[in-house]
Amino acid sequence: MKKWLQFLVLITSITSTSALLASGGIGEGSEGRSSQMPPVMNAKWKAECSGCHMLYHPGLLPERSWKAVMAGLDKHFGESAGLDAATRDEITSFLVLNSADKSANRRSSRINQSIPTNSTPLRVSETRYFISKHDEISASTFKRKSVGSSANCIACHRGAEKGDFSESQVRIPR
Ligand code: HEC
Ligand code: HEC
Repeated sequence: MKKWLQFLVLITSITSTSALLASGGIGEGSEGRSSQMPPVMNAKWKAECSGCHMLYHPGLLPERSWKAVMAGLDKHFGESAGLDAATRDEITSFLVLNSADKSANRRSSRINQSIPTNSTPLRVSETRYFISKHDEISASTFKRKSVGSSANCIACHRGAEKGDFSESQVRIPR
């Protein structure tokens, strides 16, 4: 590479990195760890868990909850969502690896801390953390046609599937 070109590449990468840090794009919180859940992906998870509802980020529930959800797919909230053993095991591993008690981000830690150790919620929307963050939203708002239920995070949080629940991305539809 020519010397001037090398210099240009160096400067560009330095300025874009600092811009990203300054904008909070990486999400370093005051405690020195990421405040947002990191975007995660697994092809089987996306294929099998987004047919009936949005993809729930693994960082929203602890390991024991995901294991319970995945062990009960035959009777999943009134639906039959059973999978072959290999697919089920792969998705379970992915969910566990990125679960709220395995993830270092602040949001997941708070969700995890809000769940008593002797309880295994199957719903994010039943956790104390969720309830405290939505106590100003009325039941009728959650029942709006444009929302459906409190479980349909993506109606109000555009970035929900990527784990982005930041306040700047929230909009309650009419
Ligand atoms: C055949 C349809 C169907 C499939 C496939 C399905 N689900 Fe569900 N799931 C449901 C229904 C119905 C609900 C209840 C939704 C509600 O109350 O609004 C639900 C709710 C959930 C909830 C609770 C959400 C909350 O906080 O209230 C989780 C977590 C969940 N599903 C995970 C999964 C995972 C993981 C997969 C893939 C292995 C999956 N689902 C595949 C139908 C399905
Ligand atoms: C009817 C719209 C609506 C739905 C559905 C909804 N939320 Fe929210 N959510 C909000 C609003 C409004 C706030 C408050 C934003 C603020 O503090 O300004 C919020 C706040 C949050 C926060 C805290 C943000 C922060 O930084 O303080 C989290 C996390 C969150 N929601 C997650 C979820 C999850 C997970 C789901 C689905 C299981 C969900 N929400 C469903 C509207 C919604």
